[in-house]
Amino acid sequence: MKKILAIETSCDDTCAAVLDGDRILSDVISSQIDLHAKWGGVVPNLAKRAHEEKIGPIVEEALKRARVKIEEIDLIGITYGPGLAVALGVGIEKAKDLAKKYKKKLVAVNHIEGHILSNFLKNSRGKPERKIELPALVLTVSGGHSKIVLMKKIGKYEVKGETLDDAAGEALDKASKLMGLGYPGGAIIERLAEKGDEKFLDLPRPMKGRKGFDYSFSGLKTSFYYQIKDWSKEKIGKNFANLAASFQEAVFDSLLIRFEKAVDYYCPKSLMASGGVMANQNLRKRLKKLAKKRNLPLYLPWSKKLNTDNAAMIGVVAYYKAKRGEFVKNISKLDREPRAKL
Ligand code: KG4
Ligand code: ZN
Repeated sequence: MKKILAIETSCDDTCAAVLDGDRILSDVISSQIDLHAKWGGVVPNLAKRAHEEKIGPIVEEALKRARVKIEEIDLIGITYGPGLAVALGVGIEKAKDLAKKYKKKLVAVNHIEGHILSNFLKNSRGKPERKIELPALVLTVSGGHSKIVLMKKIGKYEVKGETLDDAAGEALDKASKLMGLGYPGGAIIERLAEKGDEKFLDLPRPMKGRKGFDYSFSGLKTSFYYQIKDWSKEKIGKNFANLAASFQEAVFDSLLIRFEKAVDYYCPKSLMASGGVMANQNLRKRLKKLAKKRNLPLYLPWSKKLNTDNAAMIGVVAYYKAKRGEFVKNISKLDREPRAKL
């Protein structure tokens, strides 16, 4: 096994983790939610400053909780994209400094591969033991992306569908903002939707019946906007639950209609899902039903915390990339690589 230090700063969470191979020894997150909440979304410069403040202490805390000294670390895994360039840069600088100072190997990790491989993480005792049957069809949905990926083996992925505009989590965040509710909106909408009527508003199911497996959520958001734009604050307030339930149902219908179609087309041996939106109990339940209907095993991250951004998922990708010898060749050049898009 290898001792890995992983760092993730692609958006609004400063994260560090220590792994022993694919086992999590520590997983520390400093969330900036309170900082961005009043702006209704992530403010790049505020995110950058907060990452700069927190990155040192968070890395130290991850090492301390894992009872591992930096000298004992074999390699460092770092997110190089996609994400917010100014935020990514802070983590990359930290990883480079540590790699140079302590002469460690560096592995550059794609954030989305991290979300996919979050299903391969184990706790410190090596649980759960999973034998994920491949090829797997993966639904990975967060605030920055919504993708259907065919995973042929670890490190070999084909994107079969993706959003043409907003990501699913982004759509939920925007709907929450339109109702005058907080950020991020996904969890707020989930809570409100529990007591609401999903048929209250008549909303479209974008891309239904279209060829291929891509998503689109901007039309749904626009329809939602036009239906409530002339409502008073009181009327919106009285109908929070119904509005949340209607919007959430439309987003999840859209996701699952396309995913089910892709399942039938690609005939995978198992299903996998991950990303912040998969923290939603309603979506998890619906996906479990779909898997049962198709008689396929379904894998979800075993802890809710592993759905949303974290560094453990970056560490497990680094572990598998290191096994294949995929290290950063020229550490000094890595700062040219923070990528908003990949
Ligand atoms: O994976 P993540 O932490 O960060 C990105 O890579 O974007 O995902 C954050 C997204 C946000 O849009 C948030 O609203 C959504 O995940 N989210 C949820 C829930 N918790 C977080 N969406 C629906 N239900 C939830 N419980
Ligand atoms: Zn993410």
